[in-house]
Amino acid sequence: MTTSTTRPAPARTTRGLPLTGFVAHSARGRFNSAFFSVMGGYLDWHMRKRKTKAFADLPRSVVELGSGVGANLRYLPAGAQLIAIEPNPYMHARLRRAARRDGVELEIRSVVGERIDLPDASAEALISSLVLCTVSDPAAVLAEIRRILRPGGRFSFAEHVAAKPGTPTHWSQRMVRRPWAWVFEGCSCERDLTSLIASAGFTRVEIAPYRIHTPFLPFNTHIAGTAIA
Ligand SMILES: C[S@@+](CC[C@H](N)C(=O)[O-])C[C@H]1O[C@@H](n2cnc3c(N)ncnc32)[C@H](O)[C@@H]1O
Repeated sequence: MTTSTTRPAPARTTRGLPLTGFVAHSARGRFNSAFFSVMGGYLDWHMRKRKTKAFADLPRSVVELGSGVGANLRYLPAGAQLIAIEPNPYMHARLRRAARRDGVELEIRSVVGERIDLPDASAEALISSLVLCTVSDPAAVLAEIRRILRPGGRFSFAEHVAAKPGTPTHWSQRMVRRPWAWVFEGCSCERDLTSLIASAGFTRVEIAPYRIHTPFLPFNTHIAGTAIA
């Protein structure tokens, strides 16, 4: 008797080398794909005003880091072409369906943001939402973003960040850090992404902090903005 498995193969570089840095967990990978599919609209509703500003006037060709199941397709212009850097294979089927529904021409690259397989200065715009909290090495990812953006190209982001020390939100972020990271595949609510983005070598950076109001207290402190390569 033969058996078959539906577990997707591990992510590989374009040269077929296995990638380290992201290991898809079959149960949590499926859970996160379903979670963001169900909760995506709710989360986006809280972030919509800031995303609408940060993702305004995107060109037709966009690279996205950690596209998930397609939360940001709605911000792309009509007839957009999206290169999605998405190492979690459990996101791919939903992302493809969402792109077909929204008329977005999609190319998925199963690589991590720490090692993007795109040439230097090849992208006009790169977007991300709720991803720099999860990548293993945000400084390396920001260096990759700068590398692939053409001079003057734009990185637009909407991310959640650490609260000010001494606040109840900061305390809650500390309390939940282990189970939160386990459930959400490495996500940390304690990252000072404002400082990281500001010191990543972009020529111009605009970052606006804001707060959303959800029952997920550790998740409520956010930033949105744009950094120019
Ligand atoms: C919290 S989800 C956010 C998904 C989507 N951007 C959204 O706003 O709903 C984080 C996404 O980042 C992806 N991710 C995790 N580690 C990554 C890495 N090292 N490089 C690129 N993407 C990564 C995950 O697979 C997941 O799709």
